[in-house]
Amino acid sequence: MELVLASKNPKKLVELNAILSQLGIRVCSEADVGVDIDVEETGTTFEENSLLKADAVMKASGLPAIADDSGLCVDALQGAPGVYSARYGGEGLDDPGRTRLLLENMRGADTRGAKFVSVITCCFPNGDVISARGECHGTISFAPMGEGGFGYDPVFFIPELKKTFAQLSPEEKNAISHRGRALQAFKEKLEEYLKTK
Ligand code: IMP
Repeated sequence: MELVLASKNPKKLVELNAILSQLGIRVCSEADVGVDIDVEETGTTFEENSLLKADAVMKASGLPAIADDSGLCVDALQGAPGVYSARYGGEGLDDPGRTRLLLENMRGADTRGAKFVSVITCCFPNGDVISARGECHGTISFAPMGEGGFGYDPVFFIPELKKTFAQLSPEEKNAISHRGRALQAFKEKLEEYLKTK
């Protein structure tokens, strides 16, 4: 079985294939099936946005399509940046700029709890939809630490490990991350779904 990934990110393609190849599934890119669409993420939840992306690519390609949507939700900021994580502070900022803005906005906050969320959705041409959510809970550090990862990784601190996501190896991060957990849950749901077919 082949799934099209609704994303232009080659790292996500590798990550999904590593897990889903265990089910005999090949995940291919939009380019592989001649699709090139930019889906506007107009939803207000991770579930809505991942569904919007998967549904649009499924309809454009005629093939089952998979998408993920993720972000960081900070308690002291009432869940922000949330679904706006990639656009926090506007188009002009890069990853370190967004991280700095987050730390500035948390100055004086009396709680530093936060979670990363990832929702993976797959839309099939027959109308079936499978969706799975993964979360990883931590705190926001007072300063960036570590060189690995991307996005908000240098300030997302895991108290149990006494390290930020940016201080973990990719394998260590995948084992506990929101995306790793969502992908594992998704794999289990897809396995059950395929048994009914
Ligand atoms: P998307 O899922 O590609 O839309 O990513 C949303 C945004 O959330 C990214 O641009 C990052 O800012 C943030 N984000 C999602 N997952 C992670 C992660 O694992 N580490 C750091 N930042 C992340």
